[in-house]
Amino acid sequence: MADLTTRADIDLLLREFYSRAMVDEVIGYLFTEVAHLDLDHHLPTIGNFWEQILFQRPVYAGHPIAAHFPLHQAATLQPAHFQRWFRLWDETIATRFEGPMADQARTRAATIAESMQYRLGITSDPTVFSDAYKAALGMG
Ligand code: HEM
Repeated sequence: MADLTTRADIDLLLREFYSRAMVDEVIGYLFTEVAHLDLDHHLPTIGNFWEQILFQRPVYAGHPIAAHFPLHQAATLQPAHFQRWFRLWDETIATRFEGPMADQARTRAATIAESMQYRLGITSDPTVFSDAYKAALGMG
């Protein structure tokens, strides 16, 4: 299996991730019923986010954590939602890509998910989920 190397790879990964996430029994309703997410609008933005993170190209200009405040206010996001989000991300990567960049996509998502929960006020300890994510990543 090949590593993630191009923007087209990111776009493929994201399409597959959202096709799972939006019908997921734990978090699907957050995208569909709560946020009424328009994927055609959302995918280019989130693709830019990952292109910037993984390939260091300055193409994303948003605020990823702030973007989740309205969702949290509307639906009270919980650690279990983030754990499910991360599991789907991890599994989707595993079906398509393998290598250092695929691993980066996992570790960066884990650390952002953690800091997002802290910044949203879902957890009061910024490291409380580290062990769970490290275990998922085979790091601890
Ligand atoms: C339970 C977990 C999550 C849920 C339910 C969720 C849901 C959403 C929704 C509904 C939006 C669209 C907001 C809007 O513009 O109306 C969004 C945007 C976004 N999400 Fe998430 N998200 C989750 C976790 C994450 C994580 C862990 C990351 C990063 C690793 C992430 C990255 C992004 C980015 C980059 C955007 C675009 C922000 C922008 O418009 O610039 N999300 N998310």
